[in-house]
Amino acid sequence: MTIQTPISDVSGGTGHPEASGLPDLASLNRLAGEFFAQLPGVVQLAPRVLPVLRTTGLASGLPVGLSTDAPEGMSSSLPGGLGTLPTGLPVNPPGSFPVGRPPASSVAAPAGTGILVPSPLSAPAAPSVAQPSLSSSLPSAAPVSVSSLADTHGTAPYYFLDYDRPAAPSAGNLDQFASLADPQSSIAAQSGQLPGQDPLVLLLSELYPDLAASPVAGTTAVSSASGSAYDAGGRTLVQPAGPSLSPSFEQPLSWDRAPNHIQYQAQPPFDVHAIRRDFPILSERVNGRPLVWFDNAATTQKPQAVIDRISYFYAHENSNIHRAAHELAARATDAYEGARNTVARFIGAKSSGEIIFVRGTTEGINLVAQTFGKQQIGAGDEIIISHLEHHANIVPWQQLADQTGARLRVIPVDDTGQILLDEYRKLLNPRTKLVSVTQVSNALGTVTPVKQIIDLGHQAGARVMIDGAQGLSHASVNVQQLDADFYVFSGHKIFGPTGIGVVYGKQELLDQLPPWQGGGNMIADVTFERTQYQPAPARFEAGTGNIADAVGLGAALEYVERIGMANIALYEHGLLEYATHGLLSIPGLRLIGTAQNKASVSSFVLSGYKTGEVGHALNQEGIAVRSGHHCAQPILRRFGVEASVRPSLAFYNTCEEIDHMIAVLRRLAGSRRS
Ligand code: ALA
Repeated sequence: MTIQTPISDVSGGTGHPEASGLPDLASLNRLAGEFFAQLPGVVQLAPRVLPVLRTTGLASGLPVGLSTDAPEGMSSSLPGGLGTLPTGLPVNPPGSFPVGRPPASSVAAPAGTGILVPSPLSAPAAPSVAQPSLSSSLPSAAPVSVSSLADTHGTAPYYFLDYDRPAAPSAGNLDQFASLADPQSSIAAQSGQLPGQDPLVLLLSELYPDLAASPVAGTTAVSSASGSAYDAGGRTLVQPAGPSLSPSFEQPLSWDRAPNHIQYQAQPPFDVHAIRRDFPILSERVNGRPLVWFDNAATTQKPQAVIDRISYFYAHENSNIHRAAHELAARATDAYEGARNTVARFIGAKSSGEIIFVRGTTEGINLVAQTFGKQQIGAGDEIIISHLEHHANIVPWQQLADQTGARLRVIPVDDTGQILLDEYRKLLNPRTKLVSVTQVSNALGTVTPVKQIIDLGHQAGARVMIDGAQGLSHASVNVQQLDADFYVFSGHKIFGPTGIGVVYGKQELLDQLPPWQGGGNMIADVTFERTQYQPAPARFEAGTGNIADAVGLGAALEYVERIGMANIALYEHGLLEYATHGLLSIPGLRLIGTAQNKASVSSFVLSGYKTGEVGHALNQEGIAVRSGHHCAQPILRRFGVEASVRPSLAFYNTCEEIDHMIAVLRRLAGSRRS
């Protein structure tokens, strides 16, 4: 790398290089190149170098792994302070993980997740072209553990474009943040891309009126007698500061609320621009337009931390697991079992022994059907599912019922698409052996009352499985609090790789179940006469599993943990409200599924157009949505349609993207064929 920096800048502007005794420009360039090429660890750039890089725009050519000299307690990650780093750079490059040490919990510093770090160095990097390849030989910055990152949740962090602005406001320094009150301010970061209005503010103050009136631990209610930035419009803003807010799936969606009456600004729980830079694919262009990824219910995009973690596995750890005495087997086994621990922590399992890796939700449900189902469900027994289910939670039970003589019962839904609990109660009886329902409908977005479903099922003596494929990425889940017997999900729906998923099962249940596939890894001893099996989870993981992608899933969950599920839930809820109001404003558009509790999935049909035509028109504008039956034909037919258009949102989406989609739909509606 060549640094074309005026020598006077590097030398502090003290005169001609020879006269000052410094080497000439070419030598300095060479020395600088060697310096950057041989970084032994995190480079603490000399303060006088940094301004040069900033002012000359050379930062975009910095080698990865550099760190600004952030003060203690502030972000030690690079991108913020340098402002023009390439999009998608990981905070720690692939080769930066200590060899033999799993990097999963140390892939990125907080800024790498878009979490707002209370640091003057945390200004966002301007969008720029992604670095085509990342060095695999650079050593790492100090690992940042999840637990240390969790501390950032408690600080209501802020985010400023201006280096020299002070850090997070407190009751004592509010005056310094007065510009935040000005929606036109070009200095204060905008509130998560909410254009001119902020549903989040509404949510924060209306969903949590008690918090607004009386701050509790985990929130910072900021107000000022002198009319500060935080007391606009006569209302006190409550700043979500961490998971203690614990928004869950219980937040109702309001159908009669216009978000544009909000006149003031608030800081969102994270910076969506910074988040977006973690996802390289979001810089893609489709049909000449920036990609808008609204097909998150089909699959989510992957952050650089996940891409790097998988790449690191293949570069440094790849081996089969559990079966050899060599170093790489140990690394791979550590990585794989470390991911299992992460999953257990993420969903609140009692132990990692309750976590079985499978290919995805579909395989997970089939596993339960072929083990629990075959062992516990016989002729005359009943299995209850709901009308909302994905085909993956219908077909395996039909197959089992065909094989065993059991009966499938279906909980109906009301006209909004919500499960009718009273009808469910009527279906439960002593023959009910299993209830299996989705947490979030992939087709409508309905959030089902799983806790009540589980409790009622247990009262009837049944086991209850939750299909978490669409639920886990939208709000925090604790399987022990839910008391779910089984919980299944797919890695690719929660920012992890495809081909990896999880079955959680209560340990005492798994211990009684027979294996479902036979082969290596799942056995304790084999003779020609008989085989002894391993305990769970190995008993259910015959053969070589998807080791690298399990490791990638662990990295994805850690990434999500760093952002904070509470932050995600609040932000997405605002997005959903915004999208819903936009969609409802389009003539001839009919929403399918209007339950009060919804996750960020919208489903609609547009009169005069086939769903495929709408999908095609959106694709022409770079907007990816799914159109079709979404592998959930029964629930669409319940609403009289065979297909729908389904935009589904994630925390990296923005209101501007929603505006773009609404504009295309409005144009279509305006040129409707008669
Ligand atoms: N289950 C995925 C969806 O809903 C494929 O799109």
